[in-house]
Amino acid sequence: MTKVLIVYHSRSGNVAKMAQALAEGAKEGGADVVVKEVDKATLEDLAAADGIILGAPTYFGTLSAEMKGFIDGSVRIRGKLENKIGAAFTSSGSPTGGNETTLLSIIQGMLIHGMVIVGDPLETGGHYGAVAVGAPDAGALIACRKLGERVAKLAKVVGAP
Ligand SMILES: Cc1cc2nc3c(=O)[nH]c(=O)nc-3n(C[C@H](O)[C@H](O)[C@H](O)COP(=O)(O)O)c2cc1C
Repeated sequence: MTKVLIVYHSRSGNVAKMAQALAEGAKEGGADVVVKEVDKATLEDLAAADGIILGAPTYFGTLSAEMKGFIDGSVRIRGKLENKIGAAFTSSGSPTGGNETTLLSIIQGMLIHGMVIVGDPLETGGHYGAVAVGAPDAGALIACRKLGERVAKLAKVVGAP
């Protein structure tokens, strides 16, 4: 069965709510879904997944140090994430507080691993991934669910090496 791993960092719960909505969507897309806080996720979790979705709050215009540390640590399994499907999500305090730069920073790490990135073509979604300002509202939760579903469906088609 296609496996989707969702790893997130959340200090005040906003990104955590997004992670749950992404998980619902990925399940809807037919995947076996694992959701983990960043301090509990392992390199083995990453290597075992067909699709990987990473989320962090926006801190000073980029991803939180906790998620950056997790991505940096994944250097130890370079080559093992190639062709896996990836997507990113974030919550920021301000609509122009750097949520897009956060998403792109997460995606940079995925590209360096040779992963295949899923964006959001919908006007209502975040084009580079799912975004909420503060706590996710109904629209943000829909965007999360749709992104999770797209990752699951694509991971099923592409598979992982
Ligand atoms: C240390 C720190 C830095 C932050 N920097 C930004 C920022 O640069 N831009 C922004 O829009 N929000 C910023 N915020 C707000 C968080 O991104 C926002 O509250 C987010 O919803 C928190 O997500 P969480 O509830 O999952 O922890 C910052 C918050 C903290 C604690």
